[in-house]
This record gives sequence, C-alpha cells and structure tokens, in this order.
Amino acid sequence: MPLARPVIGDLEIERVLEVLRSRRLSLGPLLAEFEHEFARRVGAAHASAVSSGTAGLHLALRAAGVSDGDEVVTSPFSFVASANVVVYERARPVFADIDPVTFNLDPDAAAAAVTERTTALLPVHIFGYPVDLGAFERIGLPIVEDACEALGAVDADGVPVGGRGHPAVFGFYANKQIATGEGGMVTTADAALKERIDSERNQGRAPDMDWLDHDRLGFNYRLGEIACALGLAQLQRLDELLAGRARVAGAYREALAEIEGVDPPCEDSTAARGGGSQIRRGWFVYVIQLPRDVDRDSIVRALSARGIPSKPYFPAVHLMSYYRERFGHREGEFPVCEDVAARSIALPFFPEMTESQVEQVAESLREVLGMVGGA
Ligand SMILES: Cc1ncc(COP(=O)(O)O)c(C=O)c1O
Repeated sequence: MPLARPVIGDLEIERVLEVLRSRRLSLGPLLAEFEHEFARRVGAAHASAVSSGTAGLHLALRAAGVSDGDEVVTSPFSFVASANVVVYERARPVFADIDPVTFNLDPDAAAAAVTERTTALLPVHIFGYPVDLGAFERIGLPIVEDACEALGAVDADGVPVGGRGHPAVFGFYANKQIATGEGGMVTTADAALKERIDSERNQGRAPDMDWLDHDRLGFNYRLGEIACALGLAQLQRLDELLAGRARVAGAYREALAEIEGVDPPCEDSTAARGGGSQIRRGWFVYVIQLPRDVDRDSIVRALSARGIPSKPYFPAVHLMSYYRERFGHREGEFPVCEDVAARSIALPFFPEMTESQVEQVAESLREVLGMVGGA
C-alpha cells in the first residue's frame, strides 16, 4: 500500500485530453478558470496560480515587503520550504516554538520572537489544522499563511482557510488534497497583490503581456494548462476527496484507540479559541505520536517489512544541517517542536484507503510496538 495516492478518474483524464487536443499548453484559458474556481471555493476575492507552493510562498513574501536583513517569524515544525523562501530573499527565518496540542506555531511564542527587524509572520496550518489567525493578527504585522497542507480547513468562525484576506498559499503536490503533480495557488483580498504576483510569476511582465515590457524582476513560476485542467477536475470533486480523507482519519482514530501510548492527531476543538464552533481540519496526512521510549527507526523498518510504508514527519527545520550551519541552531531551542518531531510518524493515508487497509496498518503497528517494546 502506498503512503499517499491521488484520486485520478475519468474526469481528470478527460480534462487533460481536452488540453492536449486544444494544443494550448501554457497561458491558456484554464489558468483564469482554475484561479476563479479556486477563489470561489475558499471565499477569496482573488487567486493566482503558480508552479508550486514554494513559488507561491516566495512571491507572497516578496509582496509582503520582505527583503535583505529582515526577519520573518515562522514555525520550526513544517516542511522546509516555509523557511527556505525567507532565505531566498536574504532574510532570516526566526523560529518560535509550537503549540503542544495542534502543533501549529504558538502565537505567544511568535509574539515574543518579534524584533524591530520583523517584517512578516509566516504561520503554517500544519497537517491541515487551522492556525488561530486572530491571535496572530493581534501582533500587528503582515501575515502570509502557509496553507499548503490546509485546503478544506475551516476556522472557528466558519471562514475557510484562504478566505480571510491575508495572502494564503496552497500546494498541489501529488500528496495534497487536490493534486496537479506540481502546482500552487495564492489567495488574497488585495487586487494589487494579485497583479504583482501575476507579473512576478511571469518574468515581471506587465499585465498586458507586452513581450518587451519587463518592468520588474520576475521568475518563471507559471502553472501550465495541463496542471490547471487537473486542478479544475480535482476541485470539482473536492467535497468527495475531503470526505474520503475525513472517513479514513475517523477509521484510524477508532483502530488506534486501543494501542497504548500512541497519540492520534488532535480533535477539532475551539477550546483554546475563546468561542466559535465551526473549526475543521482539512485532512492532509495522518501523523501519530509514538511513545517516547521506543526507537522510531526500528518501528519504521518493522512496518516496512510488513509492507506498510511510514515516515518520520516532520523533522524540525532548525535542526537540519543547512539551518544549523547557516544560523547556528542547536538542540534544546524549541523543546515542544523537538519532542513532537522526534516522536512523529506519518502512516499511509489517502481518500480511497479502505477500512481493512486501516485495520492492517493498526494491527501491524500493534505488533511492532509489542516487539520493539515501550507500548
Ligand atoms: C507546509 C508546507 N509548506 C510548503 C510546501 C511546499 O509546497 P510545494 O511542494 O508545492 O512547493 C509544502 C508541501 O510540500 C508544505 O507541506
């Protein structure tokens, strides 16, 4: 069984074939259609499609005014891209510790990390659990949301992630809620920000597409028509995809309940938000916490020997070699993140996973924990 697998059906195949038949492979009509449908889905005024989530984060940070010597406060418990994009702009990612329940950047720790050089906050909706944006807004700095894992998530006040107005960046890599192979989307309430991102993703060209008029530095971060076709088909079946993921997560919760010492992902809860009742995770991966006294590598190997792929997910960004060497990070700086990162493994998770596959994973986990000890 795979760790992740996109749902690709006749709908996707037909839409891709239409593009091939049209011979219009880039900057065609599907780009605007995909942007429009995506914006509508998350309740955003505007959306810009880009070649990856990383590209979207890079352009959103530039639009937030981040440049040389600035600081951006972000989470050390993330995919490395959310920190890398800060370094692309010769700025410094300043990490702060995470909340031990949601694993999202802790707003109080983030506020304490702000200095006079801080130009933006970059919270990550980790594993699709919505960040408490109200708490970040009270800090009073520009916010760029890393929503790469969070399509389908809804905040406590009922606002979908991506619909709050800050630039929010989604990713469409093959394991995401909607998959285009590679791809991303930036949503925003700000028309000028969309215009800037549309230009910078296309080599800095003016909106009228005048070939000779490159009025600013740009990149090639365009999304092609085949990817847009895939994205449109996936968006059309998004409710079904999200429901499939939520079903599998429910099955896991039940199947793992009796394995002592294994902590499932947190439940959707507004307890820490002071009200609101509509919070919903946009299920992305199923990451559990192993007991502290087991050797995670042995568990991963033993699961693999039983045909079950699993993966430590995520390693702490500040402890990666590049970040240690470049910024002098050491163990012990962010104890909650380090503890969570040391115990996490991602289990197989995809919308079409069956209850019996979930059972098989749970049974194998029970067995290997029994062998390795600790549970
Ligand atoms: C939290 C987070 N940020 C950023 C990214 C980068 O997205 P992409 O792989 O589309 O560049 C990812 C996805 O892989 C992610 O999970």
